[in-house]
Amino acid sequence: MSDIITATAHTNIALIKYWGKENVDLNIPTTSSLSMTLDKFYTRTSVEFNNSLAQDTLILNEKEVDPSRVHRFLNIFRSEVADFGSVLVISKNHVPTAAGLASSASSFAALTGAMSGLLDLNLMPTQMSRYARRGSGSASRSIFGNFAIWNKGEDEESSYAESFLNEDIELSMIVAEVSATSKKMSSTKGMQLAQLSPDYATWVERSAVQLKEMKAAILRSDIERVGLIAQENSLAMHDLNWNCPEPFDYFTDKTRELISFVDNCYKEGLLAFVTIDAGPNVKIITSRAQEKYILKRLQDNFPDLQFDIAHAGPGIRVEV
Ligand code: DP6
Repeated sequence: MSDIITATAHTNIALIKYWGKENVDLNIPTTSSLSMTLDKFYTRTSVEFNNSLAQDTLILNEKEVDPSRVHRFLNIFRSEVADFGSVLVISKNHVPTAAGLASSASSFAALTGAMSGLLDLNLMPTQMSRYARRGSGSASRSIFGNFAIWNKGEDEESSYAESFLNEDIELSMIVAEVSATSKKMSSTKGMQLAQLSPDYATWVERSAVQLKEMKAAILRSDIERVGLIAQENSLAMHDLNWNCPEPFDYFTDKTRELISFVDNCYKEGLLAFVTIDAGPNVKIITSRAQEKYILKRLQDNFPDLQFDIAHAGPGIRVEV
């Protein structure tokens, strides 16, 4: 067993979203979800046992921060694997600086990989995915490269992600960094509220149909269908947030301007679609062939915004 173990996990963007939990403690979702892992954004995390520390300690981007979520996560290993002393976790997010892109998905996936190394667990990827899920649902998918599917399952054992297609289908995501002016609402809290929407059951039913269609579209490398389905799924997720008993909104005016700009590009005949998560940033789905042209159009029309192009990225890597 080495003294320090480091793991790198990339962030993923769901094309079919996870937006609701059947079991809050275990992060068992209400729907299966499907994502693409991105090459550009990742978290690199090192862990070591450190008995001189009074408690688990988290250094994130060179600053000591509140370790409670990490501590709760490490307690899962303490209760299921072996009791151990304090752990020093040093983590760095390689994501754009503007608000809202830091991801719990890559963080908990990287921490899972690093802990499995530190504890010599020799986990299969699907077992890692189960642990990562307990840290943050979307982290279950960041264990895998390219396209991953998180089968909802019904309990601790059956809810994990696996690789759906470990191939690059030349799908590009242009990430528009829109900084948040609205009050932040965590995904955990947001989905809890959205589940109370009268439209929630319909969203869940529709999601199952979209998942099937999405899988077929990915296997055909049909970027237009992938984009159309992802966009419908994501916008319907945000509709739930507006139509629940305590409505809330992740969009800013810029988010809305981007959505309508992208819609106009599609109407002109370009491949351009949006998908949006629990924040104001917009990810524009397009093809490798059209990415530069669309990026230029976006830059000309939104000179104040920062854009990054991302492609399909790799699965988790544990350094030995
Ligand atoms: C909108 O995985 O952050 O990005 O399980 O409560 O930590 P917790 O939630 P989280 O939710 C991600 C929601 C989403 C959609 C998705 O990634 O599927």
